[in-house]
Amino acid sequence: DEGIVIAIDGPSGSGKSSTAKGVARARDLRYLDTGAMYRAMTWWMLEHQVDVDDAAAVAEASSRPVITMGTDPSAPTVHVDGHDVAQAIRTHEVTGNVSAVSAVPAVRERLVAQQREIIAEARREAAGIVVEGRDITTVVAPDAPVKIFLTASADARAHRRSREVRSSDVAATREALARRDRLDSNRAVSPLTRTADAMELDSTGLSLDEVVALVVKLADEAG
Ligand code: C5P
Repeated sequence: DEGIVIAIDGPSGSGKSSTAKGVARARDLRYLDTGAMYRAMTWWMLEHQVDVDDAAAVAEASSRPVITMGTDPSAPTVHVDGHDVAQAIRTHEVTGNVSAVSAVPAVRERLVAQQREIIAEARREAAGIVVEGRDITTVVAPDAPVKIFLTASADARAHRRSREVRSSDVAATREALARRDRLDSNRAVSPLTRTADAMELDSTGLSLDEVVALVVKLADEAG
């Protein structure tokens, strides 16, 4: 019996990570934050002084970093070449450069292949996995039995993200989010898009527990 795959896409600050972790914990599934993998790749490029606006240079370097993901939803981890980069990938510098790196096709090919391996392993060895990102419902796991497009109003997303990064400047956070969403939604390869068969869930005005309960219900219905 193969484990279930729950695919969650959505813009920055829509609550994907908290929702995905909550669902994985509730149903004893593994958890994969694909955004952390693009951030880890970006961190490595910055560390190695690769010009992230030079797509050819990024493509050429993209096979070098070894990115390792821990998929326990209660203690997810991310390592690059053995370094724990959980904190380092959340800096403004990484956040400001990740959209450029994630738009490079060679980067996506490599990380999507790794994501599919992690999913296959979780389906064999666990009850399944919750995977969150921008192209999970469209590219990484289009056959997932549960596909969700999680949204929230621009206001709700800016407030949520401001709390996460402990910034009191909600306007600046809103600007940065809008910029990243614009880049992620308009890039040539695997842009953030909602497909007709993904269930749209607007988390504005819902508590985290309510959103998690809704997704768990969909997963239970899917078998
Ligand atoms: O989810 P998070 O905001 O950490 O993602 C960081 C960035 O990684 C996104 O802004 C996007 O550029 C990229 N990303 C992507 N495809 C995914 C997940 C994230 O391109 N599946």
